[in-house]
Amino acid sequence: MSALFETFKIKGAILRNRIVVSPMCQYSATDGKANAWHYSHYASLARGGAGLVTVEAIAVSPEGRITPACLGLWNDAQAEALLPVVQSIKAGGAVPGIQLGHAGRKASANVPWEGDDHISADDPRGWPTVSASAIALGGGLPKVPKAMSIADIEGVKADFVAATVRARDAGFEWLELHFAHGYLAMGFLSSHSNQRIDQYGGSFANRSRFITETLAAVREVWPRGLPLAVRLGVIEYDGHDEETLLESIELAKILKHMGVDLLDVSMGFSTVTPKVPWDVPVFLAPIAQRFRDEAGLPVTASWGIDTAELAEQVVVQGQVDLVSIGKALLSNPHWPYHAARTLGIDKPSWTLPAPYAHWLERYTVGS
Ligand code: NDP
Ligand code: FNR
Repeated sequence: MSALFETFKIKGAILRNRIVVSPMCQYSATDGKANAWHYSHYASLARGGAGLVTVEAIAVSPEGRITPACLGLWNDAQAEALLPVVQSIKAGGAVPGIQLGHAGRKASANVPWEGDDHISADDPRGWPTVSASAIALGGGLPKVPKAMSIADIEGVKADFVAATVRARDAGFEWLELHFAHGYLAMGFLSSHSNQRIDQYGGSFANRSRFITETLAAVREVWPRGLPLAVRLGVIEYDGHDEETLLESIELAKILKHMGVDLLDVSMGFSTVTPKVPWDVPVFLAPIAQRFRDEAGLPVTASWGIDTAELAEQVVVQGQVDLVSIGKALLSNPHWPYHAARTLGIDKPSWTLPAPYAHWLERYTVGS
């Protein structure tokens, strides 16, 4: 019996197991529209056996893209181009999820394999960035963002709502709001990037306001019967970790009260040189467990959970409800099938759809 392969139900979504495809930008779109790359990529991940496939961070506005090649959902053509993605995820037997975000001061960058740095000011492919305050991240992202006016904030909240409506109408059954990784929402939450003196800056309640207001607006249009998750940067690894964690746990309680169904526990990445304990296996899982226990809502976490044994362990130990996996699934989209074999579950082949499962059950292939 495997805990990883138990089904998981939240509201109308029934996941066939606890394995989540963590959102992963493909930087392969033109004009924010999905294309044949995205169809094949997401089809393969869904076919591979995960319970939930979360489509990469999709920008709610052109300025909210990380790079010019990011997906967007600010127009109907982009929504239409996502339909085959939704259909292929469902055909593979997974729940189709979507992550919506705005890149804030980290927007207007080159794709990772072309530098991962800000597009230079004289390059017409770039655009002016916005954030809570006019403070650049630094490093390869030196562009100073415009400090958002109240009207700007209202505009972005409206963009989140419009993108949520399009996601809903396109048939996504799981929504995750990207409030982590140094992007716009995290830019408001972190005092590294937020030096405002109005109602959106200063106290933790004020720095949380952009998040809670955006969530409240989205909550109004996302179906009550479908899961709404938040990816939150709960720790910066900047030497103030316990203080940040305690504040984040308080915020998580508020988010739960506001109707968030699951927290995707992640990092802030609001500084250029976080002291992340990369060499500690599953370092974020015990932190996720604190949110599960102290804020009392289901959680997932990723970062370095790349073997069946580790994935099983974090579920069995009650650290997470769902295991989010990124790079291991890029390496092997059929990772869930191989995990099922490793963990000795009954009929592991049937982690895959019948046209594959039948043959793999009948004849052993590979080790
Ligand atoms: P960076 O990718 O610049 O990473 C920040 C620091 O963390 C760098 O020193 C980097 O080392 C190190 N690092 C990042 N990931 C790992 C890892 N898995 N193992 C060891 N060291 C690592 O910061 P970003 O803020 O751009 O991205 C933060 C994380 O989010 C990264 O892991 C990135 O892969 C991921 N990501 C998130 C996206 C999103 O949320 N939309 C989009 C794309 C990626 P080094 O410089 O040696 O790589
Ligand atoms: C990511 N990550 C990420 N996170 C997120 O919230 N939204 C995104 O769109 C992306 N994009 C992205 C692209 C690529 C190529 C990578 C490798 C990562 C972070 C990802 O979801 C995950 O948290 C990390 O990769 C850590 O998990 P693994 O890879 O250690 O299993």
